[in-house]
Amino acid sequence: MKTQWIDELSQRVPLSRQPQDLQTYGRDWTRVYVPRPSAVVFPRHADEVCEVLSFCSEHGIAVVPSGGRTGLSAGAVAAEGELVLSLERLRHLGEVDPFGLTLTVGSGITNHETHVHAEHLGLTWPVDLASKGSCQVGGNLATNAGGIRVLRYGHARHWVTGLQVALMNGTLLNLGNAVQKDNVGPDLRQLMIGSEGILGVITQATLRLTLLPTDRQVLFLAVDGMETGLELLRHARIQGRFQLQAFEFMGRNCLEAVMKVGGVPSPFGGGELPPAAVLIEVEGRLDGDLDRWLEDVLNQKLVRDGLVAKSSGDMSRLWAYRDNITESLGRLGLMHKNDISVEVGRLAEFVHVLEKEVAPAFPGELYLFGHLGDGNLHVNVMKPSATDPEEFWDGCHVADMQLYELLHKVGGSVSAEHGIGLLKKSALRFSRGTAEVAAMRAVKKALDPQGLLNPGKVFDLG
Ligand code: LAC
Ligand code: ZN
Repeated sequence: MKTQWIDELSQRVPLSRQPQDLQTYGRDWTRVYVPRPSAVVFPRHADEVCEVLSFCSEHGIAVVPSGGRTGLSAGAVAAEGELVLSLERLRHLGEVDPFGLTLTVGSGITNHETHVHAEHLGLTWPVDLASKGSCQVGGNLATNAGGIRVLRYGHARHWVTGLQVALMNGTLLNLGNAVQKDNVGPDLRQLMIGSEGILGVITQATLRLTLLPTDRQVLFLAVDGMETGLELLRHARIQGRFQLQAFEFMGRNCLEAVMKVGGVPSPFGGGELPPAAVLIEVEGRLDGDLDRWLEDVLNQKLVRDGLVAKSSGDMSRLWAYRDNITESLGRLGLMHKNDISVEVGRLAEFVHVLEKEVAPAFPGELYLFGHLGDGNLHVNVMKPSATDPEEFWDGCHVADMQLYELLHKVGGSVSAEHGIGLLKKSALRFSRGTAEVAAMRAVKKALDPQGLLNPGKVFDLG
């Protein structure tokens, strides 16, 4: 057994080979791969991260950087005997800079912790995800996380001024700091953000903060489907003229799944559930404007039924129907997931073709939900209990190709926010051309010539 290097590394950095740790740290929220890391290291500061990386370079050991492991594309999976490099002990939490509105944190701080830390000053880091309690800032940036407020604030990459990144050769790059304006040549910081841990390991970030909206209102509306959902968005944008914080969509079966798993009643009371629902969050004080808008869309029959949250408890209760979808579906069965996007105005037409032409090719029922306001749809497929898992995955991969062809045709994206990781490698070519992938490979080779950092993720080196 070639375990001598593990003993040697464990003399330098906290390391575990406990079977439970190997299981936990070797996987993310995808349930497709069997975790098989050789060990997990827990460096306590950036210098130890560099030490681990240079040790691995010297000994030819593959490394998988690991945050909160809530990813859905297997970007943090270690299924091939790699060493997992957990960043969870990098827990520096700085003071908020009240002038520049920035906050410097270690990459192991959770997304939710940044929110809590800035909240007392009426500020927030506006990257907000259903997994906020567990996902970490390092992972948020390595994946350029999206989430429920992209509509308002954009992806994670817009909310960073500085980044500290360890390279595979053991050097530490300081890519910017809290300085807001810094326009000096190619931006390596933005190159690292969203690179899914294949170019470098994020150890620290300086985050940009913004004002926490003082007032907000949440609506939960019953609609006939995507077409009326989209019409409602147009209405909200033009007639309503609200500042939208979120505009989310879920099909009836997603709502049912949340009700079933959570043991919660229908938000709309008794009777039949509507075909779909839309959750809208609006910021600012609207003094009855929102009620008038709702009355208007009810009169126009765009909405079958609508609820306006009257308290913050109501808001959390309504948001839970949306936030709990992924977890609830995961409890009900094995899910195949796609995370796609199209130009928002074409969403209804896209869903129409998807349901008519592509859905029959999938070996299970489709569950559609997502960020309607951004044109981002999560297309989930549930394995029927009688189907063998291998047969199910194979069937899904065949059907995926039809989905990707359709996306390619309409200029959509095969991964709107979850990234490529291991899971979506075969999809990459539908959204990125050959020359572009070749340029990505050249960058990878320059920074990690032995191909040891998160190997096999995003693309193969060939
Ligand atoms: C969500 C995750 C699946 O939107 O992206 O809940
Ligand atoms: Zn999402």
